[in-house]
Amino acid sequence: MSNSNPIGFFDSGVGGTSIWKEVIQLLPNENSIYLSDSINAPYGEKTVQEIIALSKKNTEKLIAMGCKIIVVACNTATTNAIQILRTTYSLPIIGIEPAIKPAALKSQTKSIGILATKGTLSSKLFSKTSELYSKNINIIEVVGNGLVSLIEQGKQDSAETKELLSKLLKPMLIAKVDYLVLGCSHYPYLLPALKEILPAEVSIIDSGEAVARQTKKVLLENDLMNNSIDKPKHLLFSNANPKVLAKLVNGEAAELSEVSYLEF
Ligand code: DGL
Repeated sequence: MSNSNPIGFFDSGVGGTSIWKEVIQLLPNENSIYLSDSINAPYGEKTVQEIIALSKKNTEKLIAMGCKIIVVACNTATTNAIQILRTTYSLPIIGIEPAIKPAALKSQTKSIGILATKGTLSSKLFSKTSELYSKNINIIEVVGNGLVSLIEQGKQDSAETKELLSKLLKPMLIAKVDYLVLGCSHYPYLLPALKEILPAEVSIIDSGEAVARQTKKVLLENDLMNNSIDKPKHLLFSNANPKVLAKLVNGEAAELSEVSYLEF
């Protein structure tokens, strides 16, 4: 059986496209719909109840648009709402969490840094995972205050962003981390700035590839893969800043994508 219904993605804004890119690269036959809820960004400053309500709103919109599976392309929404989403809706739901495990297992200095939102770092799900790996490891958690808003304005390479990042990363440099975990789907867009600031021996990891592999696995297990040879179509919607969103959709995917404004 082949299922051509789209894979649905949502994030508090444009950042989840870093995950979307990994997924559509690994699954080149799949159609997709991406919801950028930029009008409500950042989620990381909201209460758990607010994050749950927004996650439900986005999931319901994607279900109404015919999606066969949901990828929550947001660490903050995943760590605060995924259990409720999974018990409320019957379709498969994939989430994204900071990649603490590989960083903790590979670290030589036994010191790793996690850059994420307040909402992610204060969630129960994150604390549980972090406890599992913190036995012999010094985990330096830093809230990336202000970073999501700068990326939402398309300012990821600005002097303002570099200055803020340098300040935020200081405690990690002092603690001699050799791994930096990007715990927010917006942050892969900071890679050029991060590489300028961090010493070359610090490895930077995110969870995009792991999410793509998990999405493929779940589609296969549920017999939901699209085996059609037609060119796929990717529809991306922003309820605030479609121009910033469109700028991030580049490379081969751009030809197959349509970015527009939508109220949701
Ligand atoms: N991309 C979201 C994440 O992965 C950003 C959260 C926010 O809007 O604060 O956590």
